Amino acid sequence: MSANTIAENKQRAVFDGADSLWLFGYGSLIFKADFPFLESKPATIAGWTRRFWQGSHDHRGTHAAPGRVATLIPEDGALCHGLAYHITPDVFDHLDYREKNGYLRFTTELTFRDDVSADGLVYIATEQNTAFLGPAPERDIAHYIQHKEGPSGRNADYLKDLAAALRALGADDPHVFEIEEHLLALERARS
Ligand code: SIN
Repeated sequence: MSANTIAENKQRAVFDGADSLWLFGYGSLIFKADFPFLESKPATIAGWTRRFWQGSHDHRGTHAAPGRVATLIPEDGALCHGLAYHITPDVFDHLDYREKNGYLRFTTELTFRDDVSADGLVYIATEQNTAFLGPAPERDIAHYIQHKEGPSGRNADYLKDLAAALRALGADDPHVFEIEEHLLALERARS
């Protein structure tokens, strides 16, 4: 599968004429909402875990030196914490462009803090996309991302902004927080 998912996502228009729908954000969509939304609130989705396993050529790296950003990996019993946005379908033109480097729209069930559930969409970069980088130890990921940079900024800032946003949500994510610890140690060692 090509890393550019814009055309494929247009075929995955699963909102069937709805006036509005829920989008689940778990990576940069948590801390960088550059699109209009009606409402946002914390939510979880079951069976998925956040991992820095996706390559970024267009945001936090380049084709020559891709960054590493978040995607979701299926895992039995896992619960992924994120932020849900209530949006209108016209926002998908912008979102499909922003998430074009390997992410596909999937339907998912979101659960809010009051235990109410709703169907929604989530962008996931599966291991079939050509930008997928796959697993690596957290320490190696910190080393890898520390000097990467792309049009949207430093890869290290993506990680730190996400970690800060997860803390603000009260969400524990050992994978993200461990990469952050290694990254901060690397930065302290350099200064
Ligand atoms: C998301 O945030 O939900 C998708 C991945 C990203 O854009 O970082």
